[in-house]
Amino acid sequence: MALVYGGDGTRPCAVDPPLILAPMAGITDMTYRLLLRRIGGVGLVTMEFVSSEGLTRGNRKTQRLLRFDPAERPLSVQIYGADAARMEIAAERVEEMGVDVCDINMGCPANKILKGCAGAGLMRDLGRAKEIVAACRKALKTTPLTVKFRLGVTDETVNYLELGRICEGEGVAAVALHARTAKQMYTGRADWSYIARLKEAVRIPVVGNGDVATPEDVLAMFKETGCDAVMCGRATMKNPWIFRQAAELLAGRPYREATLAERRDVILDHFRLIQKDHADAPKAVLAKLRTFTGWYTHGLPNGGELRRRIASLESPQAFLDAVEDFFATHASRAAA
Ligand SMILES: Cc1cc2nc3c(=O)[nH]c(=O)nc-3n(C[C@H](O)[C@H](O)[C@H](O)COP(=O)(O)O)c2cc1C
Repeated sequence: MALVYGGDGTRPCAVDPPLILAPMAGITDMTYRLLLRRIGGVGLVTMEFVSSEGLTRGNRKTQRLLRFDPAERPLSVQIYGADAARMEIAAERVEEMGVDVCDINMGCPANKILKGCAGAGLMRDLGRAKEIVAACRKALKTTPLTVKFRLGVTDETVNYLELGRICEGEGVAAVALHARTAKQMYTGRADWSYIARLKEAVRIPVVGNGDVATPEDVLAMFKETGCDAVMCGRATMKNPWIFRQAAELLAGRPYREATLAERRDVILDHFRLIQKDHADAPKAVLAKLRTFTGWYTHGLPNGGELRRRIASLESPQAFLDAVEDFFATHASRAAA
């Protein structure tokens, strides 16, 4: 049966297939979310975290982050902050946006955020975390609320089970666990056994997250932890087809690798989306294109050739030519 968030007075949101794009600041913008939607296999996409201060004080940069296209839906908007009253107003704004899910970030390990007692900093103060969850739940009349967190701040203060139970008690629709401590940042390995323990401790849906690198890992995480959905972040950059491939495996079918033509189309598709979105800033377009093309050509024979070539290009048109050229040469080499 498909996973559904909410429905207890809130608008139900089906997450089908139960595969979720993790929020990633600077990455999961509108163009990236649209691209992954077009490729398919993703049940829910997530915006990068948005500050409750920026959201409620009409900050222009935040307004830009908040844009979305109906084709992305279902879509989750993630908010963060340390002040319950401010978070309540931020949740009201998310409700007004009419998106499908509102998520609270309690996992960000960045010092700037921790110091302000937001993100994973809230795991140091579960009383405040509870207040914030309650305030957001009150503000969200129709939008399901979810919370994303880590194991705790340090190895010595692992308290994700307590936080999971608080979320359940406050009417949260689902929780997502990145199975690392905040102190670990992104080092070491995510320990999935904690996801299994959280699943045993609460009745609300549990989303597993951390170090899913392949479609096979998606299946392994479901099997090893019993989680209700798998969330994947960094691996989507090297392999934006990962959700589609995992969805095939979940349906009991083998998956295939992306073809050369599909790789080219993804780069060009993303190019068009980025160019349309940043029509006023060609430098930003090129910077983004260089980053993403680096990932998309990962593992391709001679991919380094294209990456070196685009490092010095000065116009989007030159970039387009280089990509077309690269794939045409590649195809003729493969045919030879
Ligand atoms: C560049 C980057 C930005 C991120 N930004 C956010 C964010 O805005 N909100 C959040 O909850 N997690 C953020 N994360 C954490 C991811 O959502 C995810 O929990 C983490 O990368 C582990 O999953 P993965 O191994 O599949 O990448 C970010 C991670 C990366 C690499």
